[in-house]
Amino acid sequence: MTRILMVCLGNICRSPLAHGILQSKLPETNFYVDSAGTGAYHLGNTPDKRSISVAKKYGLDISTQTARQFKVSDFDTFDYIYAMDQSNYTDIISLARNNNDIGKVKLFLEDNSSIQNKNMPDPYHGDQSDFEYVYNLVEETCSILAEDLKGHKN
Ligand code: 4NP
Repeated sequence: MTRILMVCLGNICRSPLAHGILQSKLPETNFYVDSAGTGAYHLGNTPDKRSISVAKKYGLDISTQTARQFKVSDFDTFDYIYAMDQSNYTDIISLARNNNDIGKVKLFLEDNSSIQNKNMPDPYHGDQSDFEYVYNLVEETCSILAEDLKGHKN
């Protein structure tokens, strides 16, 4: 079983989309996907209604996810930890206990060569079009990651 964790700040906008989309692209027999936030603002909440809405538009139901905070034991549970932006990356790395922990953490957009800016924009203060943009970028990137994970890391 390969375990993948998607991390953003609130775990209500970006990482729930990455969680749902990557999960939909991988066989659940071999892959476990989850998400978390570095912050504790929205613990137990379902995703932002704009994330739920854009996912639904593309046929994906993320409405049953609930927000949780990233914790040190996630370094033990997960093989790959993807940070949505540099700030999330720094916050995760600050909790790492050793180089093995650090080696599990990557920027989500790192392997998407079609985009230069490796920070997934935070749509929280934006409108539905910002969520649409994020959805499409997450979708494109998850296709790349899923092929990579299925091809080499299973
Ligand atoms: P997310 O977006 O990190 O993509 O879930 C945010 C959600 C909430 C807040 C910030 C970003 N907030 O400050 O409450």
